[in-house]
Amino acid sequence: MLERVLSLRRGTTSPDDGDDDGAGGGDESKTRKHASFAIRATNYMTRTGYLWPCLILALVLLVISSVIIHTRDLVCVSSVSSFDPASRLRFFGFDGLDSDFGSLGVPWCKSKHGKTVEWTSKDLLKGLEEFVPIYETRPIKNNMYGMGFDHSFGLWFMARWLKPDLMIESGAFKGHSTWVLRQAMPYTRILSITPRHPEKYLKKGPAYVDQNCTYFAGKDFVDFGSVDWGSVMKKHGVTDLSRVLVFFDDHQNELKRLKQALRAGFKHLVFEDNYDTGTGDHYSLRQICDQSYIRGGGHSCFKDGDEARVRSRRRKFWEKAVDIKELCGPGEAWWGVRGHMRDDFNHSNKAITHAQHFQNSRFVESILDVYWELPPVAGPSLTHQSRYDPARVTSPIVEDGRYGLFQRLGLSRLESSVFNGYTQMSDTRLPLHPIPLNLKDVVSRPFCCEEQWSARFTEVKAEALWLGGSEPGNPSLSSVSLRLRTLFFSSSVERVDEEEEEEILSELLSIEEASDKPM
Ligand SMILES: C[S@@+](CC[C@H](N)C(=O)[O-])C[C@H]1O[C@@H](n2cnc3c(N)ncnc32)[C@H](O)[C@@H]1O
Repeated sequence: MLERVLSLRRGTTSPDDGDDDGAGGGDESKTRKHASFAIRATNYMTRTGYLWPCLILALVLLVISSVIIHTRDLVCVSSVSSFDPASRLRFFGFDGLDSDFGSLGVPWCKSKHGKTVEWTSKDLLKGLEEFVPIYETRPIKNNMYGMGFDHSFGLWFMARWLKPDLMIESGAFKGHSTWVLRQAMPYTRILSITPRHPEKYLKKGPAYVDQNCTYFAGKDFVDFGSVDWGSVMKKHGVTDLSRVLVFFDDHQNELKRLKQALRAGFKHLVFEDNYDTGTGDHYSLRQICDQSYIRGGGHSCFKDGDEARVRSRRRKFWEKAVDIKELCGPGEAWWGVRGHMRDDFNHSNKAITHAQHFQNSRFVESILDVYWELPPVAGPSLTHQSRYDPARVTSPIVEDGRYGLFQRLGLSRLESSVFNGYTQMSDTRLPLHPIPLNLKDVVSRPFCCEEQWSARFTEVKAEALWLGGSEPGNPSLSSVSLRLRTLFFSSSVERVDEEEEEEILSELLSIEEASDKPM
């Protein structure tokens, strides 16, 4: 299969590969040369019969196949790890690397209006070309436990694209992500929240401390959820919160962070560790959106089923792939991590029911404006990464087999370990970019007869779920319930039939109950 791709790559020259030697179809002199060669060959064959040409053809084919087999070593260098990329390729072939694989697949959070990001894969490629030399100048060469190349690129790309007025990061470690943000926006203020000040790491080795950054670190550390964002924004002269980029790499429950960010009014959020179901140390958006009604989502814990078989096979080849035993907890609980919602580096680990998990996804869907996962920068046969299973990620920016492009972008100059980072790259192209609605507006906006009842109901319901109790400056839970009821019984709204009415009332009841309980 690899041979096939390589020969295809040679046969169909791509402009991106930079392999074009100018021998395009429009070159008439070459067409003429080929025509005269063809005439000469025909004449020769007529004279000598077909024996010699057949022998020559066989010889040429032999030489080509030996060259391809040899070149294969250039692309697929064997890894010393037990997760051997070469054997992976032999086992799955190229088709199995990045495609929807059997009962696995890639769940994807649904956003409210199906909006997507403005950038294209061409923009990403251009960005990569620019970012590789920047990355090579990074002060922390070995950022073990922090971001590797893929996420550094994603963060840099998004920050540069969005051009925010202020950047907030939660979770800085030695400061690599602060440095990445600084490369994207040289003059923009950064607020960095992290328990240990990055300057502390300087004593032991490379670290990065930014001069235009306010650190909430050491004795000044305050968790993102406890910061008085109103006064901090005022202090920094920020009036438009949609111009702020918030980056989370703090391993906290992402549902919790999403609610906190919403409450503060932030709109652009990037989550670094978007762990796949069954993996990771905190509940992630990817996990929340992993639902049976989503393509590639939901799981079967049936031990003799297709999924079990596919998983056990893939587990052998990808370090972070999980088999059915690791995926499913007691009572066949597969959501989150074995039915648990993890938080704070797995220091907190709470069992949740499938109904709660489902409600969480409905809530997330109801507020996401845009959801996007950063693809891996390149396919595993190029990067030699052996951790994440390509069946659970989107197609890479540089696809397998495109070694010319990989090389031209400068990616072949980087050590392969930078593609194999700590943060479960499996799921993580995660720099997500949700731009949620401001739910406060939804509740307080006057209700109009013309409005679609169901759309409004979903919005207000999301508010009720989000609120989970009264917060200063927010409508109280009872006022949300009241609004839901008014909404429902209002004579000016589109009426529903009796069965639907009953369903809605019971849903209302469950929302009110759920809203009374902490998440
Ligand atoms: C994976 S590291 C961050 C890596 C960093 N972004 C990088 O690219 O190198 C996680 C960091 O989160 C910090 N952390 C732990 N709890 C936190 C919290 N509640 N808020 C913010 N940061 C937290 C840890 O101290 C650690 O520095």
